[in-house]
Amino acid sequence: MRRSAFNRLQQRADYTYKYNLRTGRHGWLRLTPAYSVRIVEELLDQTQGHLRVFDPFCGTATTALGAAYHGHDAVTIDINPFLVWLGQAKTRLYTARAIAQAGEASTEALRLANSGSVKAASPPLIHNIERWWAPEAVEFLCRLQAALDRTLPSESDAGVLLRVAFCRTLMACSNAAFNHQSMSFKDTNQLRLLEPDYADSFRNSVAFVLEGASENPAREAQVILHDARELATLITEPFDLVITSPPYANRMSYIRELRPYMYWLRFLTDGREAGELDWLAIGGTWGIATSRLNAWQPEEEAYTSEEFEKVLDRIANPINSNGPLLATYIRKYVADMEKHFAELRAVLKPRAKIHYIVGNSSFYGELLPVERLYASILARLSFRDIHIQPLRKRNSKRELVEFDVSATFE
Ligand SMILES: C[S@@+](CC[C@H](N)C(=O)[O-])C[C@H]1O[C@@H](n2cnc3c(N)ncnc32)[C@H](O)[C@@H]1O
Repeated sequence: MRRSAFNRLQQRADYTYKYNLRTGRHGWLRLTPAYSVRIVEELLDQTQGHLRVFDPFCGTATTALGAAYHGHDAVTIDINPFLVWLGQAKTRLYTARAIAQAGEASTEALRLANSGSVKAASPPLIHNIERWWAPEAVEFLCRLQAALDRTLPSESDAGVLLRVAFCRTLMACSNAAFNHQSMSFKDTNQLRLLEPDYADSFRNSVAFVLEGASENPAREAQVILHDARELATLITEPFDLVITSPPYANRMSYIRELRPYMYWLRFLTDGREAGELDWLAIGGTWGIATSRLNAWQPEEEAYTSEEFEKVLDRIANPINSNGPLLATYIRKYVADMEKHFAELRAVLKPRAKIHYIVGNSSFYGELLPVERLYASILARLSFRDIHIQPLRKRNSKRELVEFDVSATFE
């Protein structure tokens, strides 16, 4: 029996996200909670006709995948090469042959990994790797990685599917606990009692990924490595609809959270590279990004308003230990988002509709009304019909809310 569109999407969306799917709570690495999938589905359900849909902040490609299942042309971009790879893996159209080939190759890879006939890959240079994985898990993953490299080229369709299964296996074999907003580590002594079967974990991951891959979207989406602040240089036909969840102004670093995948899949080789990439990302403040913020200056014509300056002054108050730095962080976030909105106009059709799903933030008890800042920037850039619709409370803090900020392009 064919599954509902939501379930199909959920299975693909869930390629790398394993826990708390029902509750929609963020788990380790915070990839695609069910809640994001549902919002995208609801917005797409309200549309009519064939559309060109754009997501300038791809993340785990929820919008592109949803739009492609609905039969729309979808394009999405992200600044993080790992997320672009993952988005491409999730939105590809897989033949039955590629899926069967992946299944066979997974058995062969496990045989090779267990036989010791391939030289294990070198473990990634993750700081404190032993906090993430027990030594036996690292050894298994290094053997499995070498066996996968021997079995299938990583860029083939079947090879991509097995690398996604490898990502899920990484997570399943790790010491990280999954039920917190940000990951934490399990008690390794307790873990040892469980004697995990790593090979079984890989088999389960392969079965899960291949099942998701077997239900192709109606069209293939385009997933491109690109900066959302430079859309005038993005070569594409204009769009009718934007649905996106941009970075939040909450100092959450995607690079930090995605580190394990990025190191194992060789998108990162050292901490310096991770910091450089975080500096490129809007809202990134990790590693070198933090020290660069100290020297950052806004451009003269950058967005400002009375309300914004008042909030910044309160946050920068010297009684807040990192207040001045955080005020600069917020100013840069807003300047970057303003640049993005200004550039967005280059890729929209007249009367295109945009939806930005974004949460407000709080610093030292001071609420930063990100949704109102977006609305004010959009109004200055001649968008019209601007609405702010609260969607849900984000956690137990009553004042933290997620909004849909929507508008129409003139
Ligand atoms: C909130 S996440 C998107 C979540 C996504 N909707 C999902 O379902 O997974 C924001 C994304 O913006 C990306 N990003 C940050 N700065 C960017 C930039 N300058 N250009 C493009 N993408 C950027 C981050 O890498 C991250 O993947």
